[in-house]
Amino acid sequence: MEKLKKQWWKKAVVYEIYPKSFYDSDGDGLGDLRGIIRKLDYLEELGVNVLWLCPVYKSPMADNGYDVADYYQVDPSYGTNEDLEELIGEAGKRGIRIVMDMVVNHCSDEHEWFQRALKDPEGRYGKYFYIRKGADGGPPNNWRSVFGGSAWEPVPGTPYYYLHTFTKKQADLNWENRELREEIYKMMNWWMDRGVAGFRLDAITYLKKKDGLPSFAPDGEDGLVTCSYGSLNCEGIREILRELRDRTYGPRCALAVGEAPGVAPEDALEYISLEDGLFSMIFEFAEWEIALKGPDNFWYDERDWTQEDVKREIFNSHRAVGEKGWYGVFLENHDQSRSIDHYLPEEGRNYYGASMLAAVYMFRRGTPFLYQGEEIGMRGVRWPSIGDYDDCSSHNQYELARRKGLSHEEAMECIYKYSRDNARTPFQWEDAPNGGFTSGRPWLRVNENYTEINARGQRQDPDSLYHWYQKLIRLRLCSEYSDILTDGSFVPLYEDVRNLLAYERSYQGRRVQVFCNYQREECRIRTAEDLRLMADNYGDIRKEGDVLTLRAFEALIAEAE
Ligand code: GLC
Repeated sequence: MEKLKKQWWKKAVVYEIYPKSFYDSDGDGLGDLRGIIRKLDYLEELGVNVLWLCPVYKSPMADNGYDVADYYQVDPSYGTNEDLEELIGEAGKRGIRIVMDMVVNHCSDEHEWFQRALKDPEGRYGKYFYIRKGADGGPPNNWRSVFGGSAWEPVPGTPYYYLHTFTKKQADLNWENRELREEIYKMMNWWMDRGVAGFRLDAITYLKKKDGLPSFAPDGEDGLVTCSYGSLNCEGIREILRELRDRTYGPRCALAVGEAPGVAPEDALEYISLEDGLFSMIFEFAEWEIALKGPDNFWYDERDWTQEDVKREIFNSHRAVGEKGWYGVFLENHDQSRSIDHYLPEEGRNYYGASMLAAVYMFRRGTPFLYQGEEIGMRGVRWPSIGDYDDCSSHNQYELARRKGLSHEEAMECIYKYSRDNARTPFQWEDAPNGGFTSGRPWLRVNENYTEINARGQRQDPDSLYHWYQKLIRLRLCSEYSDILTDGSFVPLYEDVRNLLAYERSYQGRRVQVFCNYQREECRIRTAEDLRLMADNYGDIRKEGDVLTLRAFEALIAEAE
C-alpha cells in the first residue's frame, strides 16, 4: 500500500499537451493556459489522469519554449502564473495532476544567466555555461549540433565560443558547476511547492559532457562529428542524475519521466528500476529509433523497416527490464510524426489501423502517454514550401538534405515524413473555421481534414476512435482488470507469427491477452484458451474451436480463462 502510494504514477495515463496548439481562449492564434482550463472537462471525459504540459515558461520561442528565458515565469503568450495555479487547482478537482516539462540541459541565450555570461565569459555566470576559447581559428572542437552545423557559436567581439547541443539559441548549462545545480534544484522544488506533480525531463541524458570536450574523427562531409559522442550518456551522467533525483523529485515521490534516447535496453534498469531507478520511468523509444540510420538521425538517412522490427524492439525492451522496471510507453509526441502515417501501411490508415495501434501500446508494462489529437486520429500535413513550416529542425533538415544533393521535391518528402509540425498543427475541435482552435489566425495552419477529423464529431459517434481510447483508458485505470494491466508481468505471445503482435499480462492467476493484427490479410492462430471479450475494434471475437481469426487490423483484448 505504502509503495503504491509512492508509485502512484503506475496507475496513470498521461496526456501530453502542446499548449501552443491545444486551444486558444483569447483569439490571438496561440493556444494558452486558459484554453487548457476550458478543455479540462473534455480531458476528464476521455479519462486521463495526468497532463504533461510542454514548456510554458517565458521564452523567445526559438524552439517553441524549449529555450527557457525565465524558469519561474509563465510566458505572457500562455497567460500568467496565476492561470497556471488555477489550472493546477481545476485539474485537481477532476482528479488530474499536472506534470511540467523541465528543460535543464540548456537555457535560452536570452536568459539572464547567459546575458551576464556574455559580459564576462570567465566570470561567475560564464561558468554556468560551456564557454571556451576557439582553437586554430575555429571553434573549440568539431562537434555537430543535434539540429546540424557546429555545436559552437562565437561570442561576438571575443575569442570565446559557447556550446549548444541544440539550436544556437539554446546554450548548454554546465552541470559540473555546483552553483548552477543548486539553482536548478531550488527552482524545481519551487514548482513542486506550487502543486506540480512531477516533471518530464527534457534531453536529460545530455547533462554530462565528456571531460576535456575532445574532438573526434569526423563522421560526415562537413568535417564534423555528432556531438553525441561527447555529450550523450557520457561517463559520470549517473552521478549527476542521482543527485538531481535525491534533491528534487525523489524524496517527494513526484513523477519523473526522462527523455533519455540512446539508453540501451541492457542499461535501462539503472534508470528505471522500481527499487532505486534514477527516474520513475524513461520513454521507450526503440521502435521509433529504427526508422533512421546513423547517430544523427538525419531525415534523409532512412532505413527500411517492417512491423517485425517494431515488434522485436518492443519485446526486447520489455525483456530487458522484466518486472523490475517501468517504461513510459507512447505512440506519438510533439517531435514525431503522427502514428497512423508512420506505423501503418496505406491500407491501414483508418479507424481499424489506428485503434489497433492504440492496443499495441496501451496495455504494455509501463505508463501510457497519449499525445493530443492521437485520440481522434489526427494526421500529418504536406505543405508545398519549406517556408510554410515553423519547426526549426525542419528547416535544418531541409538544408541538410539539399546539401546532400536531394532535389527540392525529394527534400520535401523527408519533411512530409518527419517534420515535427506534423504533430504540431492545431487541435481539431470541431467542423468550424480553423477547426474551432481559434477565432483568430492560427500560428500554424490547421490541417484541412478538420471537417472530417474533429473531437466533436467523434464524441457524438459511439464507434469512433475517441470512444475506443476512452474504453481502453477505463480498462487500464478503473476496471476489474486494472491491477493485471498495471502490475501484471508482460510476456510476448506468438512471436514468430508474421505481422501479429500479441502479448499477455498476468497477475495473481488472472491473465489478459492482447492480439494485434498488423496487416490487411486475415491472421489465423490456434489457441486452446477460452477468451472472454474485453474489447475488440470489430466488436466481437471470431473463434471456431481452437482457431482464432483476426481480421484486417483487428485488435482483440480478452481475458484468458
Ligand atoms: C527535446 C524536445 C524537443 C526539443 C529538444 C531541445 O528533444 O522534445 O522538442 O527541441 O529537446 O530542447
